Amino acid sequence: MKKTILTGIKPTGRVHLGNYIGAIKPALKQAKNEELDPVYFVADYHGLTKIRDQQQMEELSYGIAATWLALGLDPTKVILYRQSDVSEIFELSWILACFSPKGLMNRAHAYKAIVEKNREGNREEDEGVNMGVFTYPILMASDILMFQTDFVPVGKDQIQHVEIARDIAAAFNFQFGETFTLPDYIVDKNTSVLPGLDGRKMSKSYANTIPLFEEPDKLKKLINRITTDSSDPTEPKDPDTSTVFALYKEFASDAETIEMREKFKEGIGWGEAKKELFHVMDDFLAEPREKYRYYMTHRDELDQILEDGARKARAKAQPLLKDVKSKLGIRR
Ligand code: ADP
Ligand code: TRP
Repeated sequence: MKKTILTGIKPTGRVHLGNYIGAIKPALKQAKNEELDPVYFVADYHGLTKIRDQQQMEELSYGIAATWLALGLDPTKVILYRQSDVSEIFELSWILACFSPKGLMNRAHAYKAIVEKNREGNREEDEGVNMGVFTYPILMASDILMFQTDFVPVGKDQIQHVEIARDIAAAFNFQFGETFTLPDYIVDKNTSVLPGLDGRKMSKSYANTIPLFEEPDKLKKLINRITTDSSDPTEPKDPDTSTVFALYKEFASDAETIEMREKFKEGIGWGEAKKELFHVMDDFLAEPREKYRYYMTHRDELDQILEDGARKARAKAQPLLKDVKSKLGIRR
């Protein structure tokens, strides 16, 4: 039987190059693997822990679906859906909550980080924490376990969440016998953390991102804002510590990358390097940008694709949920 690989992206910001390099590109590569059954979704209910604006939620959610499709995901070969369309996930989430020790949630990194910040600021520990944030890992466990997922490709920050899903599954299986597949995370070792405009990790939290489908003139302006040192054009530059080079190598061919590495070592002006970066990026992104625009202006088509995906997802989820409920003595 094919192994299931599943991943979700939450709609909490415009998709940026870091998301593409770190999450979307590796996932698309795996979608081509014939031995895997890929499942992708828009984690809109996870986004609700942060986004409280009707229009923003709508734009960002469609944006993620359109991004997957623009970059070549084929919805006839993989399942692509909106989390909120699959009610089974939320039913299972409650069940899993009843098998999740509260202490497990207390130890989750994202929650712990907020508590720590509050302590430092002499605020009440749980200030700004809603129960969605606190139980976030349980809903994520449900996303994963609902589809008997074998592999979850994630960024490093999400490893703990997959481990929590595994723990919850093991607790249920221990009491009721083999029910849930124990998931493993996949972290792409070749994927580096992409730096943003200021050299720190590109992240919407730092407002240093380059949106993936930015218009060419804006893209050019953003590239010009990338922080560089004040060395002379003729001075040799270290490609391995340069944000410009880090971005360049993600979009250029191997031959172009080798050539650019040489140019850095010989000395290249930052203006020139940025111009070349813009060219390789724009070449690569031009077509997906058009497709993205198409889907964002044909939302009925997006809805159709997502609804078809949800139908397939629910058909997969229902037998497992039925089995779980029957084991619990809860039948319809
Ligand atoms: P952000 O940091 O902008 O809030 P998210 O936490 O929503 O991004 O990340 C979504 C996915 O994109 C995760 O799998 C994460 O590991 C990946 N990702 C985010 N930023 C980067 C980056 N700068 N480099 C590589 N991967 C990234
Ligand atoms: N928590 C993930 C993130 O912040 C998004 C997500 C929700 C997810 N459910 C998932 C990822 C299930 C993988 C599998 O990026």
